[in-house]
Amino acid sequence: MTPAPIAVALDAPNLETAARWASLVTPHVSTVKVGLELYLRYGPDVIASVRGASGVQIFLDLKLHDIPNTVAGAVRAVGRLKPAILTVHATGGPAMIEAAVQAAPERTQIAAVTVLTSLSAADLARLGVQGPPDDAVRRLAALAVGAGAQALVCSPREVAAVRAEVGPRITLITPGVRPAGSDTQDQARVATPEAAIADGADLLVIGRPITGSPDPGAAAAGIAAALRRTALSRP
Ligand code: C5P
Repeated sequence: MTPAPIAVALDAPNLETAARWASLVTPHVSTVKVGLELYLRYGPDVIASVRGASGVQIFLDLKLHDIPNTVAGAVRAVGRLKPAILTVHATGGPAMIEAAVQAAPERTQIAAVTVLTSLSAADLARLGVQGPPDDAVRRLAALAVGAGAQALVCSPREVAAVRAEVGPRITLITPGVRPAGSDTQDQARVATPEAAIADGADLLVIGRPITGSPDPGAAAAGIAAALRRTALSRP
C-alpha cells in the first residue's frame, strides 16, 4: 500500500526514541521530520538513525536564514544527507531562496516557510509588516515560488489561499493537523487531516497525535487509513 502523505514530526528527547518512533511509523507514512533540536543535539548522524533500512523520506526542518552565500554552503553541507525536503525562511529573500535551490541536490525540494504561525498581526506590525498576516503569507508564497522554491510550509488555515496563489505544481506542507477529537495541545489553528488535504495540502506534518500515542504505529496507521477512505469517497 502507498504510504500516506504524512510527515511525522520526530520531536523526541533523544536519538533512541526518535529512531524507535521512525521505525514504528514508516510502514504507514511517506516521511519523517527532523527538526532543529534533534539535528543540533546529534548532528548529521541522526539522519541515518531515523532513516534506518526503510528508505523513508527525510524532511529536514532547519529553517535556514542567512545571506545567500552562507545558505548555499549550508544547503551543500546537508545535501549529502539527501533530504527529500529542506526548509528555508521565505523572509531571507529571493536571492537567498534561489541560492538554496541552486545548491540543493536534484531530488531535494527547497520548502519556504512563509510566516511563522507563532507571529500575531501585532507582532508582524512591530516587525514592519503591515496589513493582514494572510496578505503577507500570500506575498511571501509568490516570492518564494518566483525564486524557485518547489514547496511551501503554511498553516492549514492558509492552505486554500496559498494554493490559489501558486497553482497546482507546488508542494504544500501543513503543520497544525489534528485528527477529529484529539487534543489540540499548543496548536491554535488546527484542521483535520481530511480537511487539510481537501483544501489543497500535499503533505501533513503530524507530531504528538502520533508520537504521544501509546502505540505510534497504530496511530499512524489509523490516520493513514482515514485519509485513504476520504480519497476513495471523493468523486
Ligand atoms: O506535535 P505537533 O503535531 O504539534 O507537531 C507539529 C510539528 O510541526 C512540530 O515539529 C512543530 O515544530 C512544527 N511546526 C508547527 N507550526 C509551524 C511550523 C512548524 O507546528 N507553523
